[in-house]
Amino acid sequence: MDSHPGTQELLEIARSIALEAGALAKRRRSEGVEVAASKSSPEDVVTHADREAEALIRQRLAEVRPRDGFFGEESGAERGTSGLTWVVDPIDGTVNFLYGIPQWAISIAVVEGEPEPTTWRALAGCVFAPATDEVFTATAGGGAFRNGEAIAASPASDLSQALVATGFSYSADRRGQQAAVVSGLITRVRDIRRIGSAALDLCYVGAGRVDAYYERGLNPWDMAAGALVAAEAGARVTGWNGAPAGREFLLAGAPGIVEGLEKVLREQFPLRGELA
Ligand code: IPD
Ligand code: CA
Ligand code: CA
Repeated sequence: MDSHPGTQELLEIARSIALEAGALAKRRRSEGVEVAASKSSPEDVVTHADREAEALIRQRLAEVRPRDGFFGEESGAERGTSGLTWVVDPIDGTVNFLYGIPQWAISIAVVEGEPEPTTWRALAGCVFAPATDEVFTATAGGGAFRNGEAIAASPASDLSQALVATGFSYSADRRGQQAAVVSGLITRVRDIRRIGSAALDLCYVGAGRVDAYYERGLNPWDMAAGALVAAEAGARVTGWNGAPAGREFLLAGAPGIVEGLEKVLREQFPLRGELA
């Protein structure tokens, strides 16, 4: 295994490439967006901009970090030899991107170990939202920032007054189950948000714009950078029962409400352990 550059240097790479890919996607957005194909279901779409942005990110990373692995949503995985892997969602919030809703983002993280959220160690991450001109960044042990200013998760301690974000799967069966959970939760909290980008949901937890966020069925690229931003901003990021967050379950929130929220969610998810 190589000796790695410092996390700050890795973050600079993530940041500059995210800014370049974000500018490209924003340009494409202003030229008009078309669906290129659908993936897991007709609702799960990819635009030409998603593919173009990922190709650009992959090319830039290959230029500056040729020995690192790559794991991207649109173009798959390639193992490296350095022990580091770049985990990339070229556009998180594609449906928002398609409709011109500003909450979409480029998400780039670099992790040590296999590209699996339950075992990797995230070293640096950047989430760039071009439509709102917000750059969220974090390094392991180095804090979290929005446009260079330190951010902190909310100090909420009363679940009944908490604003909770969540997301839904593209699979009809699974989203039916997720909607039933939301209907059980909404009477127990201040309100619910469905922002439409997991990466930004996590950054918003970090910035205290929502008190918590949870979702089941996320892919590694949805959470890699955002979970580091949330954790470094002082949020608690967890899976079920203190297990590491991953595809099975991710909950991020103000430390004072996470336990109570997990308890309510556990009661609400009748098929816990089995994703429909
Ligand atoms: C999706 C978004 C959405 C979340 C879904 C993700 P995409 O990613 O993050 O908010 O609820 O689970 O798949 O398809 O826009 O990259
Ligand atoms: Ca995504
Ligand atoms: Ca995506």
